Amino acid sequence: MINTMKSLLALCLFYSAASVSTAETPIKHTSFRPGEIWTDNNGAHINAHGGGILYDKGTYYWYGEHKVEGDAGNYAQVGVHCYSSKDLYNWKDEGIALKVVEGDHSHPIAKGCILERPKVVYNKKTGKYVMWFHLELKGKGYGSAYAGVATATKPTGPFKFLKAGRVNPGKWPLNMDKKDQTAEFTKEMPDYVRIIRRDYPGGQMSRDMTIFVDDNGKAYHIYSSEGNITLHIAELTPDYTGHTGKYVRAFINRYMEAPAICKHKGKYYLIASGCTGWAPNAARSAVAKNIAGPWMELKNPCVGPKAGITFGGQSPFILPVQGKPGKFIFMADIWRPKNAIDGRYLWLPMKWEGDQIILEWKDEWTLDDL
Ligand code: DGJ
Repeated sequence: MINTMKSLLALCLFYSAASVSTAETPIKHTSFRPGEIWTDNNGAHINAHGGGILYDKGTYYWYGEHKVEGDAGNYAQVGVHCYSSKDLYNWKDEGIALKVVEGDHSHPIAKGCILERPKVVYNKKTGKYVMWFHLELKGKGYGSAYAGVATATKPTGPFKFLKAGRVNPGKWPLNMDKKDQTAEFTKEMPDYVRIIRRDYPGGQMSRDMTIFVDDNGKAYHIYSSEGNITLHIAELTPDYTGHTGKYVRAFINRYMEAPAICKHKGKYYLIASGCTGWAPNAARSAVAKNIAGPWMELKNPCVGPKAGITFGGQSPFILPVQGKPGKFIFMADIWRPKNAIDGRYLWLPMKWEGDQIILEWKDEWTLDDL
């Protein structure tokens, strides 16, 4: 009897350690386990969805959407969560880097707005950390299609909200024929002609997004625009807090979301998704010699079982691994919109065959596999 009790106790302890550790017994991670609960230094599941990673002075910082339980977690109730790590396996909770505003329903980042896919970059000229994010004003569903920006003097924040809005009002894309640069439109026009003309005066829509900083220090905002029909790649000002007015359209009428970009052996690579809400779909990939294009679309980078749904995930970011030149991690979210806080992370090593990115499922892997 006593032995049975002992075994039961041991079993319970084993399972509690495997699923959720406590503050006293944080799990030391030595590998990535895509799709599993990923605990932080306090034993809590990491809460940084749709995220991005900044490497700054020897430390990685992971920023992402802080989700709460249930459907409420699909709205910003708290803000942008930040974690830090030296080894990419073990993450320390650094708290909320950008807080939503409580008590002022008209504030652009009022509690209950939709604030997605935050990305932070460091600006060498100003010494500031700049966070961009997709913002939907409270109570307006996904109709606002704004980009928001905030800055901080430390990577962990606090970030101060600067502004939010549509992008590049009164500017035509650099790669649009002069003859098409007219604000005239009719409802009968195909959407990929009509929407960019409709939005010309007030600014272009900006939803799923990422930020990419090139080797020369120029930063770009890449976002789903025109009702998610077409991606825009827009140059940021030297301080990274605004748009210069120079932008291009890419993948016209291809309905891409979740853009993520990296530079590998001098070429630019994009991974994105199709447009099916929270449900996973087949990833897209593309290559370009110039960030402004022309972009050449390649195949679905995923291979093997569940390749047709990106193994259940959707890309928010491609992470260049420090100290391993040319090595990158594909980051993806497995969304759980019915209980948003239970969303999982799916990190996989990236490989190339010629220009084609290859992503293969792994139950468990380490940086040595890159
Ligand atoms: C897919 C996007 O990639 C997510 O960030 C989120 O906006 C959902 N759509 C909402 O349905």
